Amino acid sequence: MSGVEIRPARDVDLAVLIGTFGEADFFADRLVRQAGEHGVLLTAWDHDTPIGAVYVWKQAAEEVEVRQHLPGVPLLNHVQVHSDYRNRRIGTELVIAAEKLLVDDGHSRVALAVRTDNPDAYRLYERLGYKQWPHPPVECQYYVRLPDGTRKRCVEICHMMVKPLRRSSA
Ligand SMILES: CC(C)(COP(=O)(O)OP(=O)(O)OC[C@H]1O[C@@H](n2cnc3c(N)ncnc32)[C@H](O)[C@@H]1OP(=O)(O)O)[C@@H](O)C(=O)NCCC(=O)NCCS
Repeated sequence: MSGVEIRPARDVDLAVLIGTFGEADFFADRLVRQAGEHGVLLTAWDHDTPIGAVYVWKQAAEEVEVRQHLPGVPLLNHVQVHSDYRNRRIGTELVIAAEKLLVDDGHSRVALAVRTDNPDAYRLYERLGYKQWPHPPVECQYYVRLPDGTRKRCVEICHMMVKPLRRSSA
């Protein structure tokens, strides 16, 4: 899709990101991490409308197996494109932009977790050069905010996928 801008989110984007995608805790948390230079919240925009996002996670992974087998490898976290804009290469462009940022930072590999029940996303990452690691799936944890304001811990079982990065000769 032409005319899409991909750029790091700014603090002032928070309200519109939440208005579009919900997930207030996620976006607030990732902007704080970005401000601490622990990662980058990349966002895709159609003019003033946010249409996609991915968080480039540069801190140690939360899952012990990932820390053990992929030490120092950054992660693409929470790749998402608004349902009205899917299948127009925006997810692809977000992943490519995240990879470029990591290459510029000197990283030679990137990894991501994809739910074992999400073959569509798995197929996209395979096409982009990601390969499933030779270890069992990983239990990834996340939290959802309940209507009463409390947070509930959830887990999802994910394949870890890894891609070597290389600087383009262009
Ligand atoms: C996965 C996702 C980010 C891809 O974004 P996109 O802009 O539609 O992707 P592109 O147009 O670059 O590529 C299209 C590919 O995305 C995948 N895809 C399309 N719709 C999807 C969906 N609802 N869920 C998961 N993957 C999807 C397919 O592999 C598709 O290619 P195909 O021709 O083989 O079917 C987007 O579909 C999405 O937000 N899905 C819901 C959240 C999700 O599953 N995130 C992945 C977490 S690991």
